Amino acid sequence: PIPVIIDCDTGVDDALALLFAVRHPGLDVRAVTCVAGNTGVDGVVRNTLTVLEQAGAGDIPVARGAECPLIEPLRTSPVHGQDGMGDLGLPAPTRRPVDVDAVTLLRREILASPRPVILIPTAPLTNIALLLRTHPEVVRNIERIVFMGGAVEIGNATPVAEFNVWHDPEAAAILLTAGVPITMYGLDVFRQVVVPAADVRRLRTSSEPRLRLAGELLAHRDPAASDDPAPAGGLGDAGAVCAVADPEGLTTELLPVEVSLAPGPTRGQTIVDRRPRPGESEIHGGPREQALVDVALGVDVERYVNLWLTTVEKP
Ligand code: BDR
Ligand code: CA
Repeated sequence: PIPVIIDCDTGVDDALALLFAVRHPGLDVRAVTCVAGNTGVDGVVRNTLTVLEQAGAGDIPVARGAECPLIEPLRTSPVHGQDGMGDLGLPAPTRRPVDVDAVTLLRREILASPRPVILIPTAPLTNIALLLRTHPEVVRNIERIVFMGGAVEIGNATPVAEFNVWHDPEAAAILLTAGVPITMYGLDVFRQVVVPAADVRRLRTSSEPRLRLAGELLAHRDPAASDDPAPAGGLGDAGAVCAVADPEGLTTELLPVEVSLAPGPTRGQTIVDRRPRPGESEIHGGPREQALVDVALGVDVERYVNLWLTTVEKP
């Protein structure tokens, strides 16, 4: 199996990512690290521990990470309810996080892995930026970073910026220029991968608590958007883990990507250069230094929905 580490802000869809990752036979989840984002970091730790316990994976080390972004203040997401994970009334976890911080656990697990690790951040990139800046030697044992974040087209936190990148733009910029192969699983594909209502119903009425939890998470809706006609069922962050387990389901293109760090309406936007040839700005100013990223432009929705369902439902 591929050694992976998930850095998350659990989070309804981060929970869907964890439920899948720990049950996929091709993935070996070495650690889960937590960062503030959807909710404060202590809530994220609690939610993450609870989900892992419910998934029968209560032995995976979990560490607490950054309490706030590098520069921005903490701006949590109301989409995920009061507790940051859909207010499902889940039991408190029975264990505690490890007693080292997320950056220390990330470094330790990456360097100890016999094979290069794939990192899967599904949250603001604060922990990952701190790791790359504090312990750059980890890069030699990272095969790739597949992160959920950014958007080629339409944003969510702002018209042009996706939440994870908008929450900590400087951290995202550090990630993109780290010199590690990167896949950007952005909103363009994230929004497409939706589980059909009949499958969500089956999960919600299952006799197995783990599957009922999966169904409740899928059925969760933004409390402020209850009049939204779009169906619930989005796999969200879980799609990024599917992309690691089954990269063939994703269509990517290696493209220059830059994060807007300017104050104002573009802050946090991932500017993806899809022009076929250089423009006037390069002709007059010379080539610009930009990171090349495998940007997800298409996804086989049915393939990932089936992969997620069969993996999570397997007895
Ligand atoms: C991202 O923001 C969070 O609300 C989700 O968990 C996902 O990681 C989508 O923009
Ligand atoms: Ca997330």
